[in-house]
Amino acid sequence: MKIAIAGKGGVGKTLIASGLAWSFVREGLTTIAIDADPSPNLALSLGLSSAETDAILPISENEVLIQKKTGTSFPGVYNLNFSVDDIIRDFAVSTPSGVHLLVMGTVKSMGSGCTCPANSVTRALIRHLVVDRDDAVVMDMEAGIEHLGRGTAEHVDMMVVVSDANKKSLSVAATIARMAQDAGIHRVELVGNRIANPDEESLVRSFAREHQLNVLGIIPFDPAVIRAGIAGTPVMALEGTPAFQTIEKIRHIIMHKSRG
Ligand SMILES: Nc1ncnc2c1ncn2[C@@H]1O[C@H](COP(=O)(O)OP(=O)(O)OP(=O)(O)O)[C@@H](O)[C@H]1O
Ligand SMILES: [Mg+2]
Repeated sequence: MKIAIAGKGGVGKTLIASGLAWSFVREGLTTIAIDADPSPNLALSLGLSSAETDAILPISENEVLIQKKTGTSFPGVYNLNFSVDDIIRDFAVSTPSGVHLLVMGTVKSMGSGCTCPANSVTRALIRHLVVDRDDAVVMDMEAGIEHLGRGTAEHVDMMVVVSDANKKSLSVAATIARMAQDAGIHRVELVGNRIANPDEESLVRSFAREHQLNVLGIIPFDPAVIRAGIAGTPVMALEGTPAFQTIEKIRHIIMHKSRG
């Protein structure tokens, strides 16, 4: 089960990524969550404290690791033939949810320093997790899908595009869906989140029809999610809430359909 989650900022990607990952763990699957958002915060939702979250050094910012993996004795020349399974062993963080977490960090492309080595390491790592390993993988991504390099996208079982009923969110969802399809992801489906009333639901559904996207689920606006955000409580505290029940249904559909 290899699931990528994308959508405009603030639409609920982290809620859904943490909810799906925890739900996979409860189904008995070894699950790795990849935080590929430039401002990573999946750790908190998976139950780590703020101090533990802040202490995580993202892979792409771990210069010692990047140098060890890609460095050669020639300046400007780097090695592309490196192992990544040991990175998972050494850097995946166990969380109270039972989900193992890898924080990728941003790969800054600006400035004079070549960021290619960091990019190569994160892409190779994600490729290995998606293509070679059996663990369930849930990726919390930003709007772009640049972490999915060549040979990876077509192995992703599903891209879950998240949107609320907001026009801008839906417009970003349309762009992401198109990029994901162009990149070779076979199933690209839509989740409506923070949906407060039937009018909002029909907006999302008609958008989906217009763009020929299947609606995987409609997660209601849920005050419990707001309260959890304020209190900083993890996804496990949402058990039994309408939002989490819908995420469990979505997880069920994903597993059921992928097995078929
Ligand atoms: N179904 C929901 N009901 C009520 N509030 C929600 C719901 N889903 C998300 N929220 C709230 O919306 C905000 C954004 O959610 P979340 O952090 O999951 O989004 P995100 O897409 O990961 O954001 P970012 O792009 O900043 O990483 C949070 O404050 C969260 O509590
Ligand atoms: Mg997020």
